[in-house]
Amino acid sequence: MKKEDFIIVAIDGGAASGKSSTSKILSDRLGLLYVNSGSHYRALTWAILQRGIPPHRVDKIEAFLKFLEVDYKIKGREAHMTLGACVPAEEIRSPEVNQAVSTIAAIRAVRKFLLPRQRSYVEVARQHAFDGLIMEGRDVGTVIFPEADFRFFLLADEAERTRRRQWEGQVDSIRERDRLDKERKTAPLIHSEGAIKVDTTPLTLQEVADKLTGIILAGKK
Ligand code: CDP
Ligand code: CDP
Repeated sequence: MKKEDFIIVAIDGGAASGKSSTSKILSDRLGLLYVNSGSHYRALTWAILQRGIPPHRVDKIEAFLKFLEVDYKIKGREAHMTLGACVPAEEIRSPEVNQAVSTIAAIRAVRKFLLPRQRSYVEVARQHAFDGLIMEGRDVGTVIFPEADFRFFLLADEAERTRRRQWEGQVDSIRERDRLDKERKTAPLIHSEGAIKVDTTPLTLQEVADKLTGIILAGKK
């Protein structure tokens, strides 16, 4: 890969398919800024619940978004979204957030609020002299960056994904979140044509990372 070649890598897939861990390895290996777009939905969900707004109150959520100031902070190779003066951390992985996040992510106004901010990370990555951007989530290769240089779709059996989450000590209804994410009208989780499918069920994290790195370095789309 030539130094001047700035690349955008999009990784989508269901819960615990390996998106975050794989993206972090690729970000280190290839010098890419890493953005976890799921953390944006989690942070908003956390802030909404903190204010006592129920996840189905679209009117109150829209009003809340009108006055919300978001920005970003870079730590190492990762960009984190900030809400006002707050940088949301581990609290966004709580069982309450796991349970509400897909309902809030299905709200059109919430997605409309985040989309331009998510796209703006290309400029952030360039300004900070990264060799590219790697973003992962549910609609990165379909809606946020349909023109990404590399689009991947990670899969894994549900039993394996449940095992991975339990091993991390997480209380998370993967099946229900996947159902809501696939069935919503706006930006559903789908495998789009042209995205490279990788079944991670039988693979170790290193094997998945090696496979994706190989594809990127070979310049295949
Ligand atoms: O880490 P995990 O795969 O379990 O979830 P996440 O990436 O943190 O995303 C949490 C939730 O945010 C997902 O279940 C989706 O409802 C939503 N999300 C989305 O709608 N679009 C994205 N690009 C990323 C996440
Ligand atoms: O981001 P996403 O929810 O898709 O998954 P993750 O947080 O990267 O991975 C969930 C867990 O599965 C982590 O503990 C990973 O180390 C593990 N994992 C694995 O055991 N084998 C893989 N091929 C990928 C991830």
